[in-house]
Amino acid sequence: MLKDIYQPNPEFAKDATIKSMDEYNELVKKATDDYEGFWADYANEKIDWFKPFDTVLDESNAPFVKWFDGGQLNVAHQCIDRHIETRKNKAAIIFEGDRGDKQVITYLDLYYNVNKFANLLKEDFGVKKGDRVVIYMPMIPEAAYAMLACARIGAIHSIVFGGFSSEALRDRIEDAEAKVVITADGAYRKTKPYMLKPVVDAALTGDTPVKKVLVVERNNEEVTWVAGRDYSYNELIKSKSGKCDAEPMESEDPLFLLYTSGSTGKPKGVQHNTAGYILWAQMTMEWVFDVKENDTYWCTADVGWITGHTYIVYGPLAMGATTVMFEGVITFPDAGRPWKMVEEHKINQFYTAPTAIRVLHKMGEDEPAKYDLSSLKVLGTVGEPIDPPAWKWYYEEVGQSKCAIVDTYWQTETGGHVVSPLPGATPIKPACATLPLPGIIAEILDPETGEKVGEGESGYMCITRPWPSQIRGVWGDEERYKKSYFGDVKKDGKPVYFTGDGAVYGGDGYITITGRTDDVINVSGHRMGTAEVEAAIKKHDNVAEVAVVGKPHSLKGEGIFAYVVLKSDEGVADEIEEVKAINNIIKKEIGNIALCDDMIFAPGLPKTRSGKIMRRILRSIAKGEAITQDISTLEDPSIVAKIEAMANCSTC
Ligand code: WT7
Repeated sequence: MLKDIYQPNPEFAKDATIKSMDEYNELVKKATDDYEGFWADYANEKIDWFKPFDTVLDESNAPFVKWFDGGQLNVAHQCIDRHIETRKNKAAIIFEGDRGDKQVITYLDLYYNVNKFANLLKEDFGVKKGDRVVIYMPMIPEAAYAMLACARIGAIHSIVFGGFSSEALRDRIEDAEAKVVITADGAYRKTKPYMLKPVVDAALTGDTPVKKVLVVERNNEEVTWVAGRDYSYNELIKSKSGKCDAEPMESEDPLFLLYTSGSTGKPKGVQHNTAGYILWAQMTMEWVFDVKENDTYWCTADVGWITGHTYIVYGPLAMGATTVMFEGVITFPDAGRPWKMVEEHKINQFYTAPTAIRVLHKMGEDEPAKYDLSSLKVLGTVGEPIDPPAWKWYYEEVGQSKCAIVDTYWQTETGGHVVSPLPGATPIKPACATLPLPGIIAEILDPETGEKVGEGESGYMCITRPWPSQIRGVWGDEERYKKSYFGDVKKDGKPVYFTGDGAVYGGDGYITITGRTDDVINVSGHRMGTAEVEAAIKKHDNVAEVAVVGKPHSLKGEGIFAYVVLKSDEGVADEIEEVKAINNIIKKEIGNIALCDDMIFAPGLPKTRSGKIMRRILRSIAKGEAITQDISTLEDPSIVAKIEAMANCSTC
C-alpha cells in the first residue's frame, strides 16, 4: 500500500537548494509580489551577460513576448566558457556507448571540440547567424557538440529524433528551410549498427534546401557519399582551430526549433529563444534535481526530444554539472543495465520516463537489488502520468525509500519544468506533479469562465503569465501559434497559455495531470498527433476513411488504435497483409514510433449528421468500455454495434 504523503528525507533536505516549504512559499510570494523583480534578479545572478538587459518583460505585443530585451549573451559561453576558469578539468559529459565503451569529456575538451565544430560549420559550410541546421544524430557526444556549435555561432538548430522516417525528416527540413544536415554514418543499438545516413539521403532526393551534409563517422559503415554535398566530420575537424569567438546574441534571438505534434495538420516548429530558455533550463536543474558540484547526473532521454535538449545538454552544462549521455537501450543486455550504470558511475540523480520504469519493472523486478544504488539522491520522471505500481517500485526498489521522486510536468513548449516537487521541500504524493515551481503561474482554469477551479475539481492546465522559457512562436506561422496556445482559454478577458492538458486539484493546491484534452495521444511519453497518423494511413490506395484514437497500453501508456474504412467494401482478402501494408506506410511517413497497436477494418465510422466523426465513441470502443453517450443522433447508429462487435472480436 502506498502512503498518501512522503515527506522529504531530512538528511537530504538540510543541504538542498530549497530546503523547506517555508522557503518554497517565500519564493512563490516573491514572484507574486514582484514578478519582474523576481526574474530580473535571477537573470542577473545566473547569466554571464555580454551586455546587460534593459527591460525584463515586454508584453506589449502579447502573446508574442520579449524577456530581457536589450541584453546580449551566448548559450555556448554560458554552458562552457564561463566554467573554464573553475572547472576546466571537471567532466562535462560522461559518455557510455551501447557496447560499454566509455569517454569522459572535460569542460576544456568540450570547449575545444565545440569551437572546432563551430569553425567547421562557419568556414567549410558557410553557416551564418540565423541559418537553420538540422541535426539527425544518434546519442553520441558529437550531437551535443553540434548543438553547442550552432549556439556558439548563432545558427538555429532543429534536431529530428533518429527514429523518424525520411519523409518526416524531409518535412522538417523543408519547413525550416535548413541548408545543412548533420548526421552520422550509424550508431549501435543492442550491438547491432543502425543506419541514419540512408534516411538522410532519401530525405534529400529531389528539390531540397540542403546544400551540405556533415557525416560523423561513428561506425565506419559503408554509406553513400554524394560529391560536393557530403563531408566527413572526422576529416574536416582535423584542421580546425580550437578557438572560435562566441557570437553575441540578443536575448530574443532564436536558439532552436523542435518540431512537435499538434491536434491538427503537420508538426509545429516550436521556437525557443536564447536568454529565457537557458535561464530556466539552468534554474530548474538546480532546483528540481538539486545537483551539487561533485554529483553525476543522468537523464536517459534522447537529444531528439525536448527532455534531451534541456536536461541532457543545456541545463546541466549551463550549471556546470556532469551529465551522462548513453547511446544504448536501457534494457540491453538485460534490464539491470541502468542500475549497473548507476553503480559504476555513482549516479546521484536519475531521470527517466514512466514507460521506461514500467518496462524495467516488468523485465527486471529484482535487478535493482543486485547493484549498489546508494549514490542515488533524486529520481525523476517525465512525459506522462506515472501509475502507482510503477511509482512504488521506483521509490522502494530503486530509491530504497530514501530518494525523492520528482514527477516533473512540462512540455516541449514550456522549455523546462513548470509543475514539479522540489526534492528537499515538497511533501510528495505518489503519481502527482504537486505544485507549480516558483515563478510559474500555473493554474487549473474552467475553460468556460476562465476562473480557477476549486479543490477536487478538474479543468484546463494553463499558465496565466508569460514565463522566460515559454515557446516564442511556431516557425513561419504566427496564426498557428496564437490559435494553438492562446485560443481556448481566457482569464479576465485576456487569452492565456493553455497546455492542452486536463488537470485536477487534489487538496492543498496539488496538481494531478489527467492527460490531453485534444486529439494528441501520448505513446511512451511522446506526443503523437492522431491527425498525422491518419494522414499517413490515408496514403494507402484502398483507404477511404480512417480515425485514430489512443487506447490504454500497459507499457507504453497509450497505444495507437486505428479504425480503417476501405474503399472496396467486400472486406479484405488478406487482413494481415493489409495491416502490414498500412503499417509500412506509417513507417515510411512517420517512423516506427507511430505503428498501430490495433487496427480494425470498419464498415463505416460513427458520424453526426453534419459529418463529424464521434471520436469519443471510438475511444470508448477501443478501451472496451460500454457506450454511454446518446447515439441516436448519429447518421447511422447501427455502425456502433457493428464496430463494437469487431473490436471485441479482435481482442478476444
Ligand atoms: C506532454 C508533453 C516534457 C518532456 C517530454 C514530453 C505529458 C509530460 C508529464 C507528467 C503527466 C505529463 C503532457 C504534456 N506530460 N510530463 N509529469 N505527468 N503528463 O514532451 O512531447 O512536449 O509532451 O506530455 O500531456 O502536454 P512533449
